[in-house]
Amino acid sequence: MKAAVYEGPRTVTVKDVPDARIEHPNDILVKITTTNICGSDLHMYEGRTSFETGRAMGHENLGQVVEIGKAVSKVQVGDWVVLPFNIACGFCKQCEQGLTNYCLTMQPKADMAGAAYGFAEMGPYQGGQAELLRVPYGDFNALRLGEDAAERQLDYVMLADIFPTGYHATEMAHVKPGDQTIVYGAGPVGLMAAYSAILKGAGRVWVADHQADRLRLAEQIGAIPIDTAEQDPGEVVKEATLGLGADNGCECVGYQAHDPQGEEDASLTMNGLIDAVRFTGSLGVVGVFIPEDPGGADAQGELEAQGKIPIDFGMLWFKGQHIGTGQAPVKRYNRALRDLIAGGKAEPSFLVSHELGLDEAPEAYEHFDNRDDGWTKVVLHPDGRGGSGERRGSHLTVQELRHQASERGIEGRSHMNKQQLEKALGN
Ligand SMILES: NC(=O)c1ccc[n+]([C@@H]2O[C@H](COP(=O)([O-])OP(=O)(O)OC[C@H]3O[C@@H](n4cnc5c(N)ncnc54)[C@H](O)[C@@H]3O)[C@@H](O)[C@H]2O)c1
Ligand SMILES: [Zn+2]
Ligand SMILES: [Zn+2]
Repeated sequence: MKAAVYEGPRTVTVKDVPDARIEHPNDILVKITTTNICGSDLHMYEGRTSFETGRAMGHENLGQVVEIGKAVSKVQVGDWVVLPFNIACGFCKQCEQGLTNYCLTMQPKADMAGAAYGFAEMGPYQGGQAELLRVPYGDFNALRLGEDAAERQLDYVMLADIFPTGYHATEMAHVKPGDQTIVYGAGPVGLMAAYSAILKGAGRVWVADHQADRLRLAEQIGAIPIDTAEQDPGEVVKEATLGLGADNGCECVGYQAHDPQGEEDASLTMNGLIDAVRFTGSLGVVGVFIPEDPGGADAQGELEAQGKIPIDFGMLWFKGQHIGTGQAPVKRYNRALRDLIAGGKAEPSFLVSHELGLDEAPEAYEHFDNRDDGWTKVVLHPDGRGGSGERRGSHLTVQELRHQASERGIEGRSHMNKQQLEKALGN
């Protein structure tokens, strides 16, 4: 089968690898039809993790079951499923409490917890940017989808990671109806955190980043963009809240946070949040921070390379703020979020800018890693056809489609998402 394989810093190659297969009676085998590139893949792509060369990448996976192990009883061949990026057993001390993000069984190292497909330090599992994926404990890990699955793959695939992860950031930040929430990072995860806060009924949501195309998407879903190249988020938020600050905040950037000029500083976003969030407010930190970043010594210094990040702990303590951190327990939320999609209440595909074939993975990684304008979220289709099986999506961005719609005088264009714009334009 073909897979997108990591071959060293900034090198991903699509090549033939041994077919994924059933290895255990509880496994299922999934033919992957839609799989995303994630900001987490970029930490590995840039050589800023211990990810091994020769391994397939990809942890945001959706597809159709083609084979089941002898002990599988719920999932059937032919089912459409989306797989949480966490691989979990369902019966260990952590899984019993719903902490599938820290499963003990699937992580081979005794002093570690948590497993994922194609992910550094998260067990030996192959990724799903490939034609086939082996899913351990298929009955527990696969979330089955309804009849609209084939047509709405771009929405449902976001359940593998970024929609539940953004939602988890708002849970750890205790976002409630009416709250004023600030999100750092307008990447896919930050946009999903803002979208989740809005779905929960937050009164006002700000999103801070320096990427104009991503901030436009934040505005499109009803958030207030803050361009960090021009404004200090803490000042903007305090001015809007009688000097108090936001009720809570979400960190959706991680250890490669940088200033608008590209200078890395892992403490930027945490210190920004500690400043912008009020006394006793909560911070949900889903951006990835890692205990060792040897590749980052040049970019940030020796201490940061050891995961030691100078955050304003004195101010955090003084303000009595709370912090929640870590990988998201996708399974805790994916069923409910699936039903919001199925019920027409959520449409997370609004952020998809590119649908490409698996063969195009190398270029897709390059563009997404450069944060090239308009490359907000890349979806790959290893089945060699468009998501619906009928047509490939447009390679134009939402902004470009909207511009076309405006030139053609199409009404209601400012409220349309990518698919609706494509339909209206007949693309
Ligand atoms: N906890 C989890 O379970 C989980 C799951 C998925 C992704 N992640 C992590 O979430 C983070 C974001 O993922 P993504 O896919 O959105 O990545 P991304 O790299 O596409 O987006 C990050 C965004 O942060 C912006 N940014 C950088 N420095 C900034 C700063 N100082 N202030 C404001 N914005 C800044 C960038 O311009 C970019 O738009 C990554 O660290 C990723 O690894 C965590
Ligand atoms: Zn991801
Ligand atoms: Zn477990």
